[in-house]
Amino acid sequence: MSTSKRKMDHIRICLEEDVESEYTGFEDIMLIHKALPEVDYSDIDTQVEFFGKKLSFPFLIASMTGGHPETKRINANLAEAVEEMGIGMGVGSQRAAIEDESLADSFTVVRGKAPSAFIYANIGMPQVLMRGVEIVERAVEMIDADAVAIHMNYLQEAIQPEGDVRASGCFQAIEEVCREIKVPVIAKETGGGVCREVAEKLRDAGVSAIDVGGKGGTTFSGVEVYRVEDETLRDVGIDFWDWGLPTAFSIVDCRGLLPIIATGGVRSGIDVAKSIALGAELASAALPFLHPATESSDAVKKELEYFERGLKTTMFLTGCRTVDELKNTEVFVTGKLKAWLEFRKG
Ligand SMILES: Cc1cc2nc3c(=O)[nH]c(=O)nc-3n(C[C@H](O)[C@H](O)[C@H](O)COP(=O)(O)O)c2cc1C
Repeated sequence: MSTSKRKMDHIRICLEEDVESEYTGFEDIMLIHKALPEVDYSDIDTQVEFFGKKLSFPFLIASMTGGHPETKRINANLAEAVEEMGIGMGVGSQRAAIEDESLADSFTVVRGKAPSAFIYANIGMPQVLMRGVEIVERAVEMIDADAVAIHMNYLQEAIQPEGDVRASGCFQAIEEVCREIKVPVIAKETGGGVCREVAEKLRDAGVSAIDVGGKGGTTFSGVEVYRVEDETLRDVGIDFWDWGLPTAFSIVDCRGLLPIIATGGVRSGIDVAKSIALGAELASAALPFLHPATESSDAVKKELEYFERGLKTTMFLTGCRTVDELKNTEVFVTGKLKAWLEFRKG
């Protein structure tokens, strides 16, 4: 099956089926309500800077699509909305357009509609292993990207009948890319989470940020369950539906090593605030924006406003005027997340 056709399958499945896992770890966190916040709502400042670009609030739309003619409109709507809202976004894997240049406009439309927004390119680890720096450079050039995400999706590859499961030599390949490429490299999981041991090696390889892509949101093992015909693979896919390190677990494990983007089941402004209070620089989400993006840029904007308003309200009620204050706000941790913290402390 062609890469382009597979991408459309993923979009259709994510629009029509239940593809989410349960439990991000945000359930085990409480931010402490301040009955008297001692800050005016109108003074709350959600702006941050990320890799030299200003974002109106610490949020990105995570990599989703491109690479099929029908995805051009989706990317155009996402891009128009992020440009107007003053945030950023990632494009989906650019592999299809590198294999067939006639598909490039489904990606280049993003820079066209978002000339000043923070935009990151996207390419898979298996492609980097095979083609090294050259493929990463082409992905960055194609959309004049501010950064590039190398996605690590071995859970999905392992469930796909056509999956590419070669994974030895990844750190060395990433190191070569980081040495040569001119933009920051983000190592990006897509639902399985990143643990500290891997994050440390990624930092040593020269990566500039980690998108933890934790468990609790879209599960690509789940997405593949709807596609595979082989019964054994389908059963294994079901077993791995909830596999991985929950997003909050991954944030606390990797914090302090590199800037963290919190992705995976971030579904509200409260989740964005919790991510930041736990140690992330930014949060991002994919699935909540897919359906709006098939409609219009206004529908995407409306969803973004929901996240922004929720974050601002959380900052107000915790008495945090700035995102830096939110980073230092007290967090009450309970349940499995507390057990994880104790386990990792040894
Ligand atoms: C339809 C769809 C397509 C995706 N395609 C890509 C991709 O090409 N590259 C990538 O790095 N992540 C991809 N992702 C993963 C997201 O960037 C994100 O890590 C994941 O969906 C978890 O976030 P969520 O729970 O908010 O959806 C895709 C997600 C969705 C929903």
